[in-house]
Amino acid sequence: MLNRRFQSILYFSIISLSIYIFLYNQSKHSISKNYTKQADVKPSVFCLIKTHPNNIKINKSLIVYKIWAHKCDNYRFITLIPNNLEPIKKKDVLEVYDQFYMIQPSFMQAESHGNLTLKMYYSMLYVYRSFPSYDWYYISDDDAYVNIKNLKTFLKDKPKYESITYGYNFKIIVKDGYHSGGPGYVLSNGAFMTICKKMDKNINNCPNSGIDDVDISQCIRNYNGKMGQSRDELGRERFLPMGLMDTFTGRNTDWLKGYGEHPPQKGLNCCSDSLIGVHYMNSRDAFRLDLSIETQRNNLKLYDEMFGLSKPITFKNILKNYLLLQDLESDTNDFNFTGNF
Ligand SMILES: *[C@@H]1O[C@H](CO)[C@@H](O)[C@H](O)[C@H]1NC(C)=O
Ligand SMILES: *[C@@H]1O[C@H](CO)[C@@H](O)[C@H](O)[C@H]1NC(C)=O
Ligand SMILES: *[C@@H]1O[C@H](CO)[C@@H](O)[C@H](O)[C@H]1NC(C)=O
Ligand SMILES: *[C@@H]1O[C@H](CO)[C@@H](O)[C@H](O)[C@H]1NC(C)=O
Repeated sequence: MLNRRFQSILYFSIISLSIYIFLYNQSKHSISKNYTKQADVKPSVFCLIKTHPNNIKINKSLIVYKIWAHKCDNYRFITLIPNNLEPIKKKDVLEVYDQFYMIQPSFMQAESHGNLTLKMYYSMLYVYRSFPSYDWYYISDDDAYVNIKNLKTFLKDKPKYESITYGYNFKIIVKDGYHSGGPGYVLSNGAFMTICKKMDKNINNCPNSGIDDVDISQCIRNYNGKMGQSRDELGRERFLPMGLMDTFTGRNTDWLKGYGEHPPQKGLNCCSDSLIGVHYMNSRDAFRLDLSIETQRNNLKLYDEMFGLSKPITFKNILKNYLLLQDLESDTNDFNFTGNF
């Protein structure tokens, strides 16, 4: 009798212990799984892209969307909404979807250069109210090319909850510097929240000189936001305010000497292997540059899989691809390897 009781207690204990060990391992397993999952998640980016009705009409905005803007985790094009579309009224903006999302600050009656800052401020307020939980907010024009993959890799270890910004650094006009709007620049969640909270109370809490990139940087600096460094470990720029070929050849970049935080370098030292933003890119240029980077990325991955040849993407090869694609587009044979490199 006693013996049987002892046996059943023993069985009960063994079964309980097994269940406990099983559950413990399960929970440990799922915790560690979540850990890797979170470590793999790249930072999320919301893109705000300025455009206008004519560029919508000629499909320039759509092409920007197709080349890179769709790779943002979310986005809005900012524009006067074309007449043929029927927008929905939201607080501060009108919004419509026609192949891509666009918003128009409600106060805007016509597209003009006079109210560029307010146009941005009211659009930012809408994004602040509707989409407050992105890690980073990228602001650019529709004549920029942005490589979202390189942007996310760059931002991976950057402090999103600090008020900080990254872009091409100018050392003039704004104390502690501002970023060129041309290639675009990125605000941390901390920086975006800080200034939007202030503007939400009173739009005049941020300056309005009419030059939006200056004003946004100035406002962030006014509330102790830092200007981050974005050049790579070799001092090459990731954000190009003067376009790809002008930067490479040094054409039209002399004026940057007194204005940029770092003097421009021409030739292969001009630009980083991990480019992020490039100004003055028309649709063809942007497409060609995107192909140059992304096909190189894919080709090197295939080479690695086939031969274990782990070669990095280089600016030199980006440029070679870019120039060769130009020949391919225009049925020419202009590329002179000896002359260029
Ligand atoms: C793991 O992540 C999933 C989905 O995000 C969540 O439902 C689950 O509770 C998480 N598990 C643990 C142990 O945190
Ligand atoms: C713009 O793209 C649409 C297709 O989405 C096409 O029907 C139209 O002809 C294009 N317009 C121009 C000006 O290229
Ligand atoms: C700029 O916006 C204000 C309203 O905030 C408006 O009164 C003014 O007419 C606008 N100026 C231009 C040039 O559109
Ligand atoms: C290519 O460039 C080199 C160096 O500038 C020059 O000597 C050569 O003549 C060029 N070749 C052609 C075919 O233009």
